[in-house]
Amino acid sequence: MPQVVDLGDLALDEGAHLLIKRALAVHEQIEVRGTAPTLGVDLPAWCRARGLRINIAFLPGVYILHRGPGRWDKAERAGSADAPSAHAEARWGLAARGALVEAGAPTLDLPLADRSAVWADEAARLYAQASAAQWDPATAIPWDAPVTHPPEVEDAIVQVMTYLIENETAALLVPARFLARLHPHFREVMQLLAIQAADEARHIEVFTRRARLRRTELGLSTAGGQASLATLFDEPDFAIASFLLSVLGEGSFLSLLWFLHEHAPDACTREVARLAAQDEARHVAFGLAHLARHVDEDPTLRERLAASIERRHSALAHTAGLNEEVFDALILLAAGSWEPAALRRGHAAVVELQKDMDEGRRSRLSRLGFDAAQAAALSQLHTRNFM
Ligand SMILES: [Fe+2]
Ligand SMILES: [Fe+2]
Repeated sequence: MPQVVDLGDLALDEGAHLLIKRALAVHEQIEVRGTAPTLGVDLPAWCRARGLRINIAFLPGVYILHRGPGRWDKAERAGSADAPSAHAEARWGLAARGALVEAGAPTLDLPLADRSAVWADEAARLYAQASAAQWDPATAIPWDAPVTHPPEVEDAIVQVMTYLIENETAALLVPARFLARLHPHFREVMQLLAIQAADEARHIEVFTRRARLRRTELGLSTAGGQASLATLFDEPDFAIASFLLSVLGEGSFLSLLWFLHEHAPDACTREVARLAAQDEARHVAFGLAHLARHVDEDPTLRERLAASIERRHSALAHTAGLNEEVFDALILLAAGSWEPAALRRGHAAVVELQKDMDEGRRSRLSRLGFDAAQAAALSQLHTRNFM
């Protein structure tokens, strides 16, 4: 005897379909009884639309329904909600990790779909940290702090900010392009890249605002500086791009931002540099974490990374590298005045900064398994534009 579902006088367009679906989820065949006057017309049409077979019994208001091949029979789980799969299928599309995906959903072009290439166990923790550490430029920066340094030192700050803005723009666009190609199965990495882009957007905002605090015009943007950033922008390989951008470029920028925090003559510049440096440390940490894992899983990667530095070095050999105006602006900013003794101090500080950047790069390269000699040689080949 089939399971009986008594609808009473509840019509199909009043919610009776819920009772039928609930019974069909458990039973192959059910007997539906109902007295709603529209049931004789609505129920056969409803069954046809769902591929269900319906027999009208000899008694009025009684129908036998058979469940056909179910719509979810060929559905597939998009991996496990707990942890990412080694490979994410294109047919899982945008489904939540662990969702049951109906067969026939559209496949999407999401080529970054292998765990070995994109994943780091640290992603979830770094994302949570980034969420908790978001700061509001309106209240976090002392925009009204006194500016007592000479006008030419202010010009130097504007030049440094102009340079920072174009580098931050590269740091936003490069991960954003990979974000759009990353399979969302790797949810934590997707979230981390998204919040990293938001960090860079904030850096662009605060550096622009600092540049325009006392000036209406911005400084210089050089062909050499932009050529260096273009090699990052054009890099199609995720591992190589994150290596050049996060490990080497943002790594070097950490030193630069802490230098500005230490040497800038006004509290506002010191604070924008400090807050940006805190964010950058997370960007560097993720780049290092997923590359360290990737290098472990793919022994050929380390050679490709080394080759990418050499390739970039030759591509940029004809350019001036760091523009002289930025270099000089850093000296003047650290000197704080035109006094010869102050300039000597400023110059020494910038020489120290370059040493600090080199040490940082060598130590990060060694964390990716390069030996000391390789790390030293590769660090020397890093772009003179810093990023
Ligand atoms: Fe940044
Ligand atoms: Fe960054």
